[in-house]
Amino acid sequence: MTSRASGPFAVLVTGGAGYIGSHAVLALLDAGWKVSVIDNLVTGFREAVDRRARFHEGDIADEALVAHILAEDGIGAIMHFAGSVVVPESVADPLKYYRNNTANSRTLIESAVRGGVRHFIFSSTAATYGIPDEIPVREDMPTRPINPYGMSKLMTEAMLADVAAAHPINYCALRYFNVAGADPQGRTGQSTAGATHLIKVAVEAALGKRSEVAIFGTDYSTPDGTGVRDYIHVADLADAHLHALDTLIALPDRSHIMNCGYGRGYSVLEVLDSVERMSGNSIVRRMEPRRAGDPDALTADNARILATTPWRPRLADLDTIVAHALAWERKLGERD
Ligand code: UD1
Repeated sequence: MTSRASGPFAVLVTGGAGYIGSHAVLALLDAGWKVSVIDNLVTGFREAVDRRARFHEGDIADEALVAHILAEDGIGAIMHFAGSVVVPESVADPLKYYRNNTANSRTLIESAVRGGVRHFIFSSTAATYGIPDEIPVREDMPTRPINPYGMSKLMTEAMLADVAAAHPINYCALRYFNVAGADPQGRTGQSTAGATHLIKVAVEAALGKRSEVAIFGTDYSTPDGTGVRDYIHVADLADAHLHALDTLIALPDRSHIMNCGYGRGYSVLEVLDSVERMSGNSIVRRMEPRRAGDPDALTADNARILATTPWRPRLADLDTIVAHALAWERKLGERD
């Protein structure tokens, strides 16, 4: 967390009613920033947005609305989370992803340039790498997405690079690895119904909301044969955005692409063991064939973000991530 008492301007968070966006809103507010949120509530939840933020229901592609917000709310930076995030859906409906993630980002970036916004932080993804030649993967390694989701995000990174070279705006593209967990204070969490992410699915199973967890592939070249991923606590990820913003402000001529992960991987079986341990309940496991397009193992080399910003992981422990995900899931259960 930064020690900033109050920022020189307000920050607009797109997708601030969503999973990661709602955590970024909390981190910004807790650090003293003025925050505005724009969210169309297609997948987000109005109640996920802290009351201290100014909320605008609408679409990032609505140029008149965005221009109004930028001027009225005194926006100097944008954190752009709004978009679609389900990899298999992107394969079935690529044009949805090229609209929501690429075309709408283009419109938003144009609004930002026109509105004099100086700093832009973009939710990118490890899916931009595709299947890496080696792990941990570094930012300068080849980006060869293997699905439209990853490509839709990589195209936005490309637009940002060109725009930052031509206009007085700098950017930071944060390539997230596997985001999980929930606000340690229980104020927000992952609320999406029908989620496909492993930790969310496993936590639902442990609490009796699902009957079992499918393990997609047990013959990977990993120590126990199941897929290995670099799980990052969503609160650490939100904190990385604050540090990215401070870095963009401090060096207005520089832009950055940075991995957000811990550099340590856990297998599917290790995740399920952790969820059983932390919940005290057993999970029915069903072995399934590999899911199309899943790499064996994907972990982040996080040397760049550690060298570029003062960000340091504070919740880099699988059991902690799982405990917070469980606490949030229980809270959701009480509401249902
Ligand atoms: C992918 C994307 C990520 C995106 C996420 C959204 C890549 C490199 N990453 O993450 O950017 O945010 O999808 O969907 O494309 N697993 C099971 N059973 C389950 C669910 C998952 O065994 O029910 C396994 C997967 O095979 C994988 C691991 O658990 O080995 C993590 O899967 P998941 O949580 O879906 O995320 P990724 O596919 O790694």
